[in-house]
Amino acid sequence: MIKRIGDLFALSTDSASCCFKILPTGQLEHLFYGKRINFGDDGRLLDLFAQDCKGAAGGSIAYDDASKFSLDGMSLESSGRGKGDAREPFVEVENADGSMTTDFVFESADVDSCPAEMRTLPSSRGCREHLCVTLKDKNFSHILRLHWNVYPECDVITRRAEFTNGSGASVRLRRLMSAQIDFEGDGFVAGDFSGSWAHEMNLNFTPLASGRHVVESSCGVSSSSANPFVMLGRGGVSQDSGECWGFNLVYSGNHYECFDVESGGRLRFVNGINPKEFSFSLAPGETFESPESVASYSDNGWNRLSRNLHRFARLHIARGEWSDRERPILLNSWEAAYFDIDQMKLLSLAEKAAAAGVELFVVDDGWFKGRTDDTRALGDWDADEGKFPGGLAPFVEKIKSLGMKAGLWVEPEMVSAESELFKAHGDWALDIPGKGHSEGRRQRMLDLANPSVQDFIIEKMSEVFSQADISYVKWDMNRAMSDVYSRSLSRDRQGEAAHRHTMGFYRVAKALVEKFPHILFEGCASGGNRFDLGALCVFPQIWASDCTDALRRVSIQEGYSYGYPQSAFSAHVSASPNHQTGRASPLETRFNVACFASFGYEMDLRAAGKGDLEKIKRQISFYKKWRGLFQFGQLRRSRCGDLVEWTVASEDSRRAAAIVFRARGGDDLPLARLFPRGLDPSLVYSVGVVDSGGERALGKAGGDALMAIGARIEPGLLRGDLSSAMFLLEAEDGE
Ligand code: GLA
Repeated sequence: MIKRIGDLFALSTDSASCCFKILPTGQLEHLFYGKRINFGDDGRLLDLFAQDCKGAAGGSIAYDDASKFSLDGMSLESSGRGKGDAREPFVEVENADGSMTTDFVFESADVDSCPAEMRTLPSSRGCREHLCVTLKDKNFSHILRLHWNVYPECDVITRRAEFTNGSGASVRLRRLMSAQIDFEGDGFVAGDFSGSWAHEMNLNFTPLASGRHVVESSCGVSSSSANPFVMLGRGGVSQDSGECWGFNLVYSGNHYECFDVESGGRLRFVNGINPKEFSFSLAPGETFESPESVASYSDNGWNRLSRNLHRFARLHIARGEWSDRERPILLNSWEAAYFDIDQMKLLSLAEKAAAAGVELFVVDDGWFKGRTDDTRALGDWDADEGKFPGGLAPFVEKIKSLGMKAGLWVEPEMVSAESELFKAHGDWALDIPGKGHSEGRRQRMLDLANPSVQDFIIEKMSEVFSQADISYVKWDMNRAMSDVYSRSLSRDRQGEAAHRHTMGFYRVAKALVEKFPHILFEGCASGGNRFDLGALCVFPQIWASDCTDALRRVSIQEGYSYGYPQSAFSAHVSASPNHQTGRASPLETRFNVACFASFGYEMDLRAAGKGDLEKIKRQISFYKKWRGLFQFGQLRRSRCGDLVEWTVASEDSRRAAAIVFRARGGDDLPLARLFPRGLDPSLVYSVGVVDSGGERALGKAGGDALMAIGARIEPGLLRGDLSSAMFLLEAEDGE
């Protein structure tokens, strides 16, 4: 609900409210973002919240002679430079006269039910409540439009901004954030997700004291070192209690999140495109739009926050035929054979996969001409006839005759220096002309800021995807940006290169995804180096990590689960000992962990023993029965001591599945209990456990007792290192 009451704007979702008002001087004063409140019909119930705007304290700058207050002491919806607010700004512009001061004041406001699509970037869909407030710069007539979308059932409010050069001369935009939210009070803790290759989404909690806590990426992608999803908690927030907020960006490029804490009990949060190495020149009348920023609030701890964000990502970010469809069980050739593939080898692997019940066979890297290792051939997207006589079409038909669909790996945004494409179009690579280039994975990035490069990729990939009956595409992107320079931009516009590259990626990916609506696209960037809501607008799922080790996957997948639904990340059962860590783990645990995602296998089934193949067959038929719940069910995390526990429950709470995982075995755990979440306290559930023999009934219990007291776990079930147990809970029909 969006309500305007005089100078007051009140935005409410099912459980949260956000409000601000127009000050007599024209700025927007932020009043509150938190638990849903009653504003009253005339807004008077908020009288006591507004700040005292009288008198600039001590050495602070008074905004003007008449009002004599300082912007520095206010909570604001957007801030510029130069008028007294010294905190993290929302917008920075280099005006034609070289000055950097902006002074935006209220001009008009519109509430409607249908926000316009963004022109250059992907954004949330299906919004029915939208507010746009237009501000105007008093000195240069620049226009700043602030947009809010309200998604009541997800407890999500999104924000974004548009800046239009209103002056008669060109200006340089130095920063345009997506959201600014000022909080009052103390005792805040920031939650963010750092990592590296094969080690994504490590959750860090940092108590916020005076100063700036910054999360950012500057390597051209959202990056595994700092995911754009961040959280804020107050007091002793836990999984199921306490106040918390989550913020994310619908953007896959360089991003910036900053918690700017003042000692006086104020906290400013901003997020948006990373202003470092960014600038954008705008001629008179030209407009720049910042990515959409997503915010959610929960007064029931992190689990509730995650469920809000999961629902939002599923309903308002994912799009296309596959957004809400159960995902097929796949077998990927990468860890089974790496580059050493050919039709014969893959068909013998495919036969094993089909016999086990796999539905989709994916040919990973190595299928195209000259691609014998990772030093060459990216860009030359024609099938290697030596490996696939007659091309891919006959091979795909053979896969289909085994009863499976076929999928293919591509890395469209890249070129190898050793390739026909590079020989023909060396100037399409992103590098500084005449200067040495720092390589990543022995390959170059194509310059996606260049429209000719975009057109080439769309055309070439259209050919690749139509050469055979392809049902799935893994779209990889294996290096970060270095030596950023686009030959398609003039010298003074190089600050635009990284952002224009990101816009180019969206144009290319969107064109292809829309042209091939039946194909299931999976994003990938050496695992999770581009895992964000922008990428999820084009790809319904993303390869979560190149690490398939069960222990590491528990923490990686748990990290993702804070901000992203299980359907959005994929997980595969791979060989033991694991290829990345060398750690051995039971097949059951590898399976149990991978279940909580879009699921598949990535191992040489030809090398698996008869016993393991039988188990895999049973795992697959089990997953087929329960996958709707694993991929789309409501996830809740809980921990008790050494144990990790996840539950997924159906929307009506009648079905649930839970995993309990134990990293370090040893003594029996006589007191270990399963504490499922999300059950209906008034229903009776039959509880079963899945073990290698299949599903085994354990008994019955009420939902209230299961959640309060927990069900005892048989001591033998969690004995060894990396042991785990999967439980199923189904409500009995009432009398
Ligand atoms: C990246 C991906 C892997 C695999 C290889 C192929 O590392 O993350 O899953 O596809 O590329 O080169």
